[in-house]
Amino acid sequence: MSFRSAGFRPAVLGSAIALVFALSASVVTAQDAQPKTAAPAAAATAATPASAAPLVAPAVAEAAKPGDAAAGQAKAAACGACHGMDGNSSDAQYPKLAGQSERYIVRQLTDFKAGKRQNPIMLGMATPLSPQDMHDVGAYFASKTPLPGVADQALVEKGETLFRQGDSTRGIPACMACHSIDGRGNPGAMYPQLTSQHAQYVQATLKAWHDGTTWGDDAQSQIMPAIAKKLDADDISALSSYIEGLHSADTQPAATPSP
Ligand code: HEC
Ligand code: HEC
Repeated sequence: MSFRSAGFRPAVLGSAIALVFALSASVVTAQDAQPKTAAPAAAATAATPASAAPLVAPAVAEAAKPGDAAAGQAKAAACGACHGMDGNSSDAQYPKLAGQSERYIVRQLTDFKAGKRQNPIMLGMATPLSPQDMHDVGAYFASKTPLPGVADQALVEKGETLFRQGDSTRGIPACMACHSIDGRGNPGAMYPQLTSQHAQYVQATLKAWHDGTTWGDDAQSQIMPAIAKKLDADDISALSSYIEGLHSADTQPAATPSP
């Protein structure tokens, strides 16, 4: 049975939503105020989502100009075999890129190329890309819409509770504090979109962080490993399924070049 989060909007979430706004506002302020050096303790971040506020998103690879989705479409031809031509991969081991923000995609490609986020396939794919290529490809995938996935109805309640409220007794923050209530993420802070992402990929990623993998050594890369360490196998299954079933109310991106 298909689960559509856009249909659920309980009023009790008002305060949590306020937190999201407070969080994004302070991230912006922090970015304005400081250069890319701050490195708050990751453990503190995981224990209390609000303490993530001063976190400064690291700079993404510099480009001569912002990403050009039309140029990116041609450059993304090689990516389609795994990620789908429109960023909706059919094989669930490959993450969907459709609707993902340009800044997040550029950051990941930069980190794959630098070997900080280690993956042999993506090292090979990212190595030939210039910073401008990364922005163009990112703009192209950001312009696409993620195709809805389906959550396992038996796991929805547990997944939703963790996603929206976390579990303060175990120091698990609400995922929505950073990834937003419908999983759309926060492009400015480079918090990725999770909406409709394949459960299999999410599960593998959370488990890898739980088991000690990191995607680098900057503050941004420490956030998820610290959180995932507190999740057990059942939490990870429930969250992964819930995330695949999340449907953003408006995943339609700002820039919409024709396919
Ligand atoms: C042969 C298959 C394959 C091809 C071709 C491929 N990728 Fe990937 N890509 C992967 C895999 C596998 C992962 C997951 C890596 C991991 O688990 O860390 C990935 C992850 C990514 C991510 C991170 C997504 C996220 O949600 O964190 C980005 C961005 C990405 N690929 C972009 C590209 C681009 C751009 C191209 C083309 C230039 C490309 N990929 C080509 C297999 C592929
Ligand atoms: C304090 C902010 C914050 C909170 C809270 C948070 N995340 Fe994240 N999440 C991030 C950041 C930042 C990244 C990207 C990490 C990077 O680029 O190194 C990320 C990445 C992810 C990814 C990888 C997405 C992809 O496309 O590869 C998943 C899955 C994820 N988070 C799930 C969760 C879940 C589940 C929770 C709740 C238990 C959660 N996050 C809570 C900040 C957060």
